[in-house]
Amino acid sequence: MPQLWQGRASKAVDSRVNDFNSSIRFDARMIEEDIQGSLVHSAMLARQGIISGADLEDIHKGLRSILEDLHSGALDIDPAAEDVHTFVEQTLTARVGNAGKRLHTGRSRNDQVALDIRLYLRGACADLQAQVKELIGVLCDKAQESAGYVMPGYTHLQRAQPVTFGHQLMAYASMLLRDLGRLQDAAARMDAECPLGSGALAGTTYPLDRFYTAEQLGFAAPCRNSIDGVSDRDFCIELCAAMATCMMHLSRLSEEVILWCSWEFKFIELDDAFTTGSSIMPQKKNPDVTELIRGKTGRVYGDLNTLLVMMKGLPLAYDKDMQEDKEAIFDAVDTLALCLKTITPMLATMTPLPANMRRAAAKGFINATDCADYLTKKGMPFRDAYKCTGTMVAACIAADKTLEELTLAEFKQYSDLFEQDVFAAIDLTACCEGRTSYGGPCKESVLAQIAEVREKIG
Ligand code: ARG
Repeated sequence: MPQLWQGRASKAVDSRVNDFNSSIRFDARMIEEDIQGSLVHSAMLARQGIISGADLEDIHKGLRSILEDLHSGALDIDPAAEDVHTFVEQTLTARVGNAGKRLHTGRSRNDQVALDIRLYLRGACADLQAQVKELIGVLCDKAQESAGYVMPGYTHLQRAQPVTFGHQLMAYASMLLRDLGRLQDAAARMDAECPLGSGALAGTTYPLDRFYTAEQLGFAAPCRNSIDGVSDRDFCIELCAAMATCMMHLSRLSEEVILWCSWEFKFIELDDAFTTGSSIMPQKKNPDVTELIRGKTGRVYGDLNTLLVMMKGLPLAYDKDMQEDKEAIFDAVDTLALCLKTITPMLATMTPLPANMRRAAAKGFINATDCADYLTKKGMPFRDAYKCTGTMVAACIAADKTLEELTLAEFKQYSDLFEQDVFAAIDLTACCEGRTSYGGPCKESVLAQIAEVREKIG
């Protein structure tokens, strides 16, 4: 396929430069969006009297036949084409002749590519939002089932205070809800301004109706500055930042799943269908899915870095460096979509093991704060109560006991304030259920969180 820009050069471009320059390998995925943009651009050209009605008919017929042939498999994308825009225009011209050559009137590949990426990412971002909602839904289901499963909550990965497995899962639901908001924000800004009609950078002398094309393509308005229109890739960066943050959340969740299904914790059992084995160790059941998600997170951070570094030194307006945007942003989209597609059923099929969570909760003095709070509520200043309980914990460790295994007489050796009701106050379920503060781990609070989150995802 020859270049679109023949005419000026005295000789053919070196084949190595052609290969190096070509983006068809990765921009072919935008072919439907490219055609969508051309359908609207040509309709506008005809409305404005810039091309004839007959030309428009030929262009639309040709573009539709390209779409049909793509869908039926009758048309293969030429890997030698310079880019998807070249491929569509030249295929069109081969089919409808001169009308095809009029399609590019008042347009440049610079505004065309800026439009195509926005249109493509609009669809991708909507798909990602649906996937994130599905994952949040699964977390809510699992949290509901496990709202009464007491487990240790951790700080510094040391057993800290009692929570429930449901409460812990809803923490991830809250993170993902923010991810959803970030994806929605990125999509809203992406759909705010249409770059089509910016031309190469300086607009055009043709009487284009940019408001018509913007509206037809689902944008709020045309972008107000043609130079910005072709040189803006903020929408890629913003979306990629939202995706990188979401990957970070999936990675943290993955890290916990890896811990939870180790023999050291055994808080959950993953379904066999979502684990892998070892070629040498017959007993192994490995959480590969979560490890891959943790690993792939760095890759999406890399994509974001690629975009930021690519843009930071570019003079206005379009520079060829910007062709590198697509591989980065598409890789990030594909990676996040793949991770969401796999982690969601993995979590839906996992089995929580509440007895093991409870056993872990019994050790590690996660009710020590509650013991100190008991003394505080009986009148001892909190700092003294803290110290007194600390002494008791040290003695229990030395005697290999838990606080609840002490007798009342032993409690009284530390403070006269201790009465029989201390046992109820430091009971793990009671400790959890007593944490009725808004957003806390008691069952009622977790169920309220689930209801609120479910309402937000609709
Ligand atoms: N393939 C190019 C890209 O992805 C399209 C824009 C080309 N524009 C140009 N002036 N060479 O960025």
